[in-house]
Amino acid sequence: MSAIPQPNSKRRDFYERIGRHDLAPLWEVLGTLVPRTPATPCVPALWRYRNVRPYLMESGELISAEEAERRVLVLENPGMRGASSITHSLYAGLQLIMPGEIAPSHRHIQSALRFVIEGNGAYTAVDGERVTMHPGDFIITPSWTWHDHGNPGTEPVVWLDGLDVPMAAFFDSSFLERYPEATQPVVRAEGDSQARYGANLLPLDYEQRSLTTPIFCYQYDRTRDALAQLRRADESHPCHGLKLQYSNPATGGYPMPTIGAFVQLLPGGFQGRPYRATDGTVYSAVEGRGRTHVNGTVLEWEEKDVFVVPSWSTVRHEAAVDSVLFSFSDRPAQKALGLWREEAPCG
Ligand SMILES: [Fe+2]
Repeated sequence: MSAIPQPNSKRRDFYERIGRHDLAPLWEVLGTLVPRTPATPCVPALWRYRNVRPYLMESGELISAEEAERRVLVLENPGMRGASSITHSLYAGLQLIMPGEIAPSHRHIQSALRFVIEGNGAYTAVDGERVTMHPGDFIITPSWTWHDHGNPGTEPVVWLDGLDVPMAAFFDSSFLERYPEATQPVVRAEGDSQARYGANLLPLDYEQRSLTTPIFCYQYDRTRDALAQLRRADESHPCHGLKLQYSNPATGGYPMPTIGAFVQLLPGGFQGRPYRATDGTVYSAVEGRGRTHVNGTVLEWEEKDVFVVPSWSTVRHEAAVDSVLFSFSDRPAQKALGLWREEAPCG
């Protein structure tokens, strides 16, 4: 692309006159609008859980889950402070629910995932069914589905929220509705959707009615067993280690139309080769410790830390010991729109 044309007095006069008619010269901004390679205000960043946790617990004394509706500390990308987002297209936050609390029922157009970081005994209710949350569980509250959270247990529970809030905002397509009571009625026993859809079986009359997976909890013990089996085979991808994607069991596709989720085991001593893709990605370290090189930045992570890799940044993972990373991105949305690209020099 050629250099940006230089303004002169004749051109400035023209711009000023057309500006009065809500017109602007494309040639002044073309290079910014259509960059040669992906450009993003998002920067690499890491939130150490041991630093964030005291603030989360302090927020627990500052405001109740009921008053806050959702007591969350938003993980704001340092390159986009004030935008309430961790990448250009994704929102992320750490949510705390204290023993005895309820986060009241509501539904919204935004799809959400919960990845449990700490604590046992809380539940998420989706569409009349509750699931008990355990660390490492990946839970979905689909678009426009009633959901509430509660903690009848004895310990604080914290999870990572991931939502497509910026995407809904971009399309100006947000709707929200609050349930008339704090909790929705429970109409199915816990484990019902797991039995119907999560055992390599489907109901006889199953018809796809939603773009979101019919199971809404992917339990970590099952995920971990799969990774352990792959670890024994030990056929690591040179960039990704042993990486799997969460899938909708009824379609084989992504669990949500806008957000994809992944889990990978990096064997101890793993030295990954470089990789990049156009989906900016949020990672949560589940087990182990290591470091991730993102362009020139080194992010040293350990269990429960969250970090973000911007679009088209060259990423390279290293693990000191066997480590597990959960991650999510807007890959399904980009693929559906024909925008997604990747580059893996290691092939
Ligand atoms: Fe919600």
